[in-house]
Amino acid sequence: MSGIFGEEKIQEIRDRTNLAELVGSYVALKKAGRNLVALCPFHQEKTPSFNVNPERQIYKCFGCDAGGDAFDFIMRIEGLTFPEAVRRLAERCGVVLDEKPPTPEEEQRRREREHLLRINEVACAFYQRQLLEEPVGEPARRYLKARGYDRAAAEAFRLGYAPDGWEGLARHLADKGFEPAKIRELGLTREGKEGRGDYDLFRRRLLVPILDLHGQVVAFGGRVLDDSLPKYINSPESPIYHKSRILFGLFQGRQAMRQTGDALVVEGYFDQMALWRAGHPQAVATCGTALTDEHAELLKRYARRVLLLFDADKAGQAATWRGMDVLLRAGLETRVVTLAAGEDPDSFLAKQGPEAFAERLHQARPALEAFLDHALAQEDGSVEGRVRAARQVAERIALLPDPLQRDLYLKEAARRTGVDEELLRRQARPAVRPPSPVPPPAFAPPLPPEPPPGDGDWPPPPPPSAPSRSGPPPRGAAPVRRHPSAAERAQRLLLRLLLLSPTECRQVADDGVEAYFIEPALAAVAERLCALPQREGEVDPAVIAAELPADQQALLQEVATLDAALVAEAPALIRRDCRQAVARERSRQRRREVQARLQVTTDAQELTELQRELIRLKKEL
Ligand code: CTP
Ligand code: MN
Repeated sequence: MSGIFGEEKIQEIRDRTNLAELVGSYVALKKAGRNLVALCPFHQEKTPSFNVNPERQIYKCFGCDAGGDAFDFIMRIEGLTFPEAVRRLAERCGVVLDEKPPTPEEEQRRREREHLLRINEVACAFYQRQLLEEPVGEPARRYLKARGYDRAAAEAFRLGYAPDGWEGLARHLADKGFEPAKIRELGLTREGKEGRGDYDLFRRRLLVPILDLHGQVVAFGGRVLDDSLPKYINSPESPIYHKSRILFGLFQGRQAMRQTGDALVVEGYFDQMALWRAGHPQAVATCGTALTDEHAELLKRYARRVLLLFDADKAGQAATWRGMDVLLRAGLETRVVTLAAGEDPDSFLAKQGPEAFAERLHQARPALEAFLDHALAQEDGSVEGRVRAARQVAERIALLPDPLQRDLYLKEAARRTGVDEELLRRQARPAVRPPSPVPPPAFAPPLPPEPPPGDGDWPPPPPPSAPSRSGPPPRGAAPVRRHPSAAERAQRLLLRLLLLSPTECRQVADDGVEAYFIEPALAAVAERLCALPQREGEVDPAVIAAELPADQQALLQEVATLDAALVAEAPALIRRDCRQAVARERSRQRRREVQARLQVTTDAQELTELQRELIRLKKEL
């Protein structure tokens, strides 16, 4: 996407940005020889190992291996994408980006959003005043006090109160000149019947504002002050509020997530607030929905490990396993914290105190390990039961992006269920074969200790990490199995074709198998087919199966069952499609590699080359 800015612009921004000054606006820098040092903003430390080299305009942390140029820095610290970082720094150093001016529709949408945000802001202030200043707020103040929230706590979360009465807010907003239709769009009011004015959605409720990543109020959750039902009413979805993309508390918690590398996910608003107050600011709550892939991607910007802390009841447990699937698929290390039965984090903290709670956090178990226990405990020990458990676990193991982890979990699962390891391994074959994971952009694993830089420069970075795992699954993918990618489908179809047709086999052999296959197991089978001496007509899979390793045999078997009619119609098209799909997949992989490398390199020359390559790849794609 940097293609939209042009390479010269990017260089100009890099040249005109003073990295030391940029970094200095976030952390206190001290001079140390030709470098500047600071406590790293990306991990927790007591002695400074974060270095800025003003000559080369790069930074590097010897504690956590974070490193790069001004773009990398702002991307990490603010959780921005590359284009966002370019815009941010351009504005900062006064470089004008000649981006396409927004279309009238885009401009209209932007104005619309701003208008809606403005209404929410005014509403939030109104509710806050009712809670903090007005006599009508007394019941809510009492309620909060009983839960241990004083004025300062209420202010910290910008809590409010919607008093009784039907049109307190409606009238207030009308007085300010906001259009009733816009207010309705946010769900703050509903249309009145028979000529009566609109009436308020929230009445006699404590209001918790929900903020986006810029700290703007996009919605409210409203809690009753007693045991009446429904306990919560929430703002409906609107042009500025999409539940699946908002995590309550992320705005306040992301700095802490970045520093600790951990995120805590809880169910309730009050859980998040309780954790924040107990000194765990890196907590977020989903807003009355299940964790989505989009939530996981958001978390990934700031954390590399997620601790699930759902209520210790049946619903909470179900949510835990669903959440685990989503997080594992996103490549996030996932742990599960168990609370005493019937508790949620808020009540647990209140009853057992912060130390007991910290101890539970400390005892967080890898989610899959906990799931294996859970799956086995559900079963009666019968063969069917163990098979069911093994299958469930295998499906989850397939989600792990790291092959080493998959391997160890498979061994453990095989041992505990008594299912043959090889068989289980086949069940757990990932739909897309993900290469080993790269450190997530927000946080890299620590390097072995290195001598501090003495001469204003530092040792060369470690070799490039392996290509990153495959991208997020397509929207709406089944929670566990991924849909095969276009490249995968194409390779399978082509392999089917190669079984059928000697002519196509010759063609593929002439062009080189690697032009058509990227998945190693499929490529190996294709090689075998192409290497067969003169043949006529279809190949019986059994002929080559015997010489193949188990996983390739299984693949062959699977591919051989694909309908021949599917590929026989237009062999040349099947071949061309596959070639294109594989080329695209390669470019994507390379792009991920380059992006990962960009995060870690400190070599200015390489940086420029990578930047250039990225632009080319993005154009290609
Ligand atoms: N929720 C909701 N609507 C409801 C009940 C719950 O939207 N009728 C959502 C809210 O986001 C709530 C979360 O689910 O925060 C968890 O629900 P629950 O555990 O019942 O509420 P808590 O947040 O724990 O609130 P409290 O501590 O006050 O009971
Ligand atoms: Mn709760």
